[in-house]
Amino acid sequence: MAILVTGGAGYIGSHTVAELLAHQEEVVVVDNLTTGHRKSVLGGTFYQGDIRDRDFLDDLFRKHQIEAVIHFAASSLVGESVQIPLSYYENNLVASHVLISAMLDHGVKKIVFSSTAAVYGEPERVPIREEDRAEPANPYGETKLAMEKMFRWADEAHGLKSISLRYFNAAGAHPDGLIGEDHHPETHLIPIILQVALGQREEIRIFGDDYPTEDGTCIRDYIHVMDLASAHFLALEHLRQHGQSDVFNLGNGTGFSVREVIETARRVTGQRIPERVVSKRAGDPAVLIASSDKAKRILNWKPRYHQLETIMESAWNWHKNHPDGYGDR
Ligand code: UFG
Repeated sequence: MAILVTGGAGYIGSHTVAELLAHQEEVVVVDNLTTGHRKSVLGGTFYQGDIRDRDFLDDLFRKHQIEAVIHFAASSLVGESVQIPLSYYENNLVASHVLISAMLDHGVKKIVFSSTAAVYGEPERVPIREEDRAEPANPYGETKLAMEKMFRWADEAHGLKSISLRYFNAAGAHPDGLIGEDHHPETHLIPIILQVALGQREEIRIFGDDYPTEDGTCIRDYIHVMDLASAHFLALEHLRQHGQSDVFNLGNGTGFSVREVIETARRVTGQRIPERVVSKRAGDPAVLIASSDKAKRILNWKPRYHQLETIMESAWNWHKNHPDGYGDR
């Protein structure tokens, strides 16, 4: 039987497809390629299509014996979600509703879901634990939390088993150097810093330096994309063996400030990387750090990239060898 990966041509999706293939899983990938890259899908059967299209999904579930779904397909930019909230409800919540309705009608009852630290909003304490208050501060986090809840109720009523993985800040690239991060436009800190190192941008703009942190810049928990990928495989195995729905944070448990990230990039790349402080970005919490004890305990998850330095080296290896990403935009 096959694993269906929605959004498998995206950043975390494509690395998870690579991980599944490494475990000899049969993989079917669906992506509408709005933001994904066909070249990032290293194997399996690929379909360009939209999960809001029920006929397309029915065809696919008839063609392939799907055992479980790993669901990445979504819009995922915090800032954009504030500008166009209704699109986020459409692309995230409505699309997931179509997907799980089709899954249930075709008897598919396992889903691993790409959730986010954005469900917490401003944290009540750090490190953040799964049972802490979840009060999203933007439509992106709001739709992801609504999706988690929809899965929970679908479990109560129809036995849909789901594992929601709440990622903190994904970074880095596949060690074989074939796939990595490529967003258009790029909004994330590490790739932007590396674009400055490559001379593609003049400077890195630091969004605010008067946060209540030691150096005044925001602190985030950076987690390697291959560690996220391995967690998806373990979540799938967990559903196979125990069949219980659950929610897990995925982070390193260590926070780095924006300035520390820039300093690390200077060391790794040997480039000067000019910086300039600009005003704060709306909706940025000062500190986001995960407690991932639960994922380690229950999923037996063992993240391998603990040092920011190693994560940065891995990202740099991809960016310097692919200065234009996949070259398809
Ligand atoms: N930052 C800058 N300059 C930039 C880009 C980012 O100073 O040019 C700062 C941000 O203000 C933030 C930190 O760098 O403090 C990290 O920003 P990113 O945009 O890389 O990541 P976010 O923490 O905003 O977002 C990530 C994921 C989201 C997820 C969120 C959870 O990308 O999908 O974590 O809060 F929702």
